[in-house]
Amino acid sequence: MRLLAIGLLLALPSVAMAAAEPNTQVPSGSRYYAATPVPDRIVASPSVDPSHGFAVAWRTDGSVQSPLLEIARADDSPAIEGIVQVRAKTQVLQTENGLSHHHRADIDGLQPDNLYVYRVQGNGSWSAWNQLRTLAAADQPLTLLYFGDTQNKNVSHVSRVVRAAQKAAPDARISLFAGDLVSGGDNMDDSEWGEWFAATNWLAQETLVAPAIGNHEYFEEFEDTPQERRVLGRHWPVTFALPGNGASAAAGTSYWFDAQGVRVAVVDGTSALDLGTAKAQAQWLDKVLSGNRQPWTIVLLHQPFYSPREGRENAALRKVLLPVVRRHKVDLILQGHDHTYGRRGEGQAATPQYVVTVAGPKQYRLSDEARTTMDPVGEDTQLFQVLRIDPQRLRYEARTVTGRLYDAFELKRYGGGSKQRVEQQEGRIAPRDCTRAQTAKGRTDRCWE
Ligand SMILES: [Fe+2]
Repeated sequence: MRLLAIGLLLALPSVAMAAAEPNTQVPSGSRYYAATPVPDRIVASPSVDPSHGFAVAWRTDGSVQSPLLEIARADDSPAIEGIVQVRAKTQVLQTENGLSHHHRADIDGLQPDNLYVYRVQGNGSWSAWNQLRTLAAADQPLTLLYFGDTQNKNVSHVSRVVRAAQKAAPDARISLFAGDLVSGGDNMDDSEWGEWFAATNWLAQETLVAPAIGNHEYFEEFEDTPQERRVLGRHWPVTFALPGNGASAAAGTSYWFDAQGVRVAVVDGTSALDLGTAKAQAQWLDKVLSGNRQPWTIVLLHQPFYSPREGRENAALRKVLLPVVRRHKVDLILQGHDHTYGRRGEGQAATPQYVVTVAGPKQYRLSDEARTTMDPVGEDTQLFQVLRIDPQRLRYEARTVTGRLYDAFELKRYGGGSKQRVEQQEGRIAPRDCTRAQTAKGRTDRCWE
């Protein structure tokens, strides 16, 4: 036994002190993520009715203008037949990695619950054939993934969360992201986006990606002057092919779609808080939810209504948008921004359930208030969420990056639309707290950066 212990010690390298890691794997100045004639950054997103269509965005270098997307019914043979071509619209972007062309193709007229293959064109090259199933009718079961902020070190640390999620829920059709996909603002924005796509890879191509925009997808103009203001980052409008049916005050950053019995409304929290659009978005949300005939409703936004982090309070969201959420009895509010985990409801009511979670490695600390008003809570933990939904039940699971169950409950829906929440304690690991006094850079208000 003793010999074995010594053997193990000898076999293990000495334990390194935690050092601050760079935000990207590529060094500053690297052109590793420059656009080429070969298509990359391919991401599918839902159309308003994803049972009949979806949209795809991708990137090439400047040699490609208005390329094609090809789509056909998936078959077991590599001889793909019945190909339909869709012409893309192209936008230009100039970044630290040079010039790139960003393409968007909208596909409609598809059959519900059918498996299709699609590929996108570059200059003398095509992408892989990707498989994507259109959504089914509202009474069919649906699996969704939900990720909190990814933001930093997307290849180094986020990619394993994405892989773990795909292994846990290979049947997921939709991937919701709570915003702050990248950190930005460091003259490496484009490389960060390159890493986000490297991390999400097949997930972005073969599930419908529905992101909320975070504050880090905006940048500060005239910083530290009286004219300081938030401006939408240039990547957002060209990176995702979103439905474009949002509030006119937040046109490219709010939207909604129906997904197999779930109405998903995505709100731009940064615009609401910093650009004065809370009221306009609340009126839009009210309209979107008033017309909802789906059995379930999800609202996705970056900044939480109830913040689990010390010293954060999003008053405009609470005052202006929260009454709409309550009035329409939204089932789930999926949020990020605070780099911790916390769930709460409103008293004993079954819904809404407000969730804050984090996928990426940046980890904050919980406030004392969060520890008394939220249950469960968590620090120092990378997580993903799996939602399994049919007309009678919505099952929610938060899992850690190693696959362990962190939080779980089920909403049951009865005739007349009444709902009951059943908490599942069994199988959950104990709530996790930060055990470090400070980060590698010496910050005591964070747990890991
Ligand atoms: Fe944020």
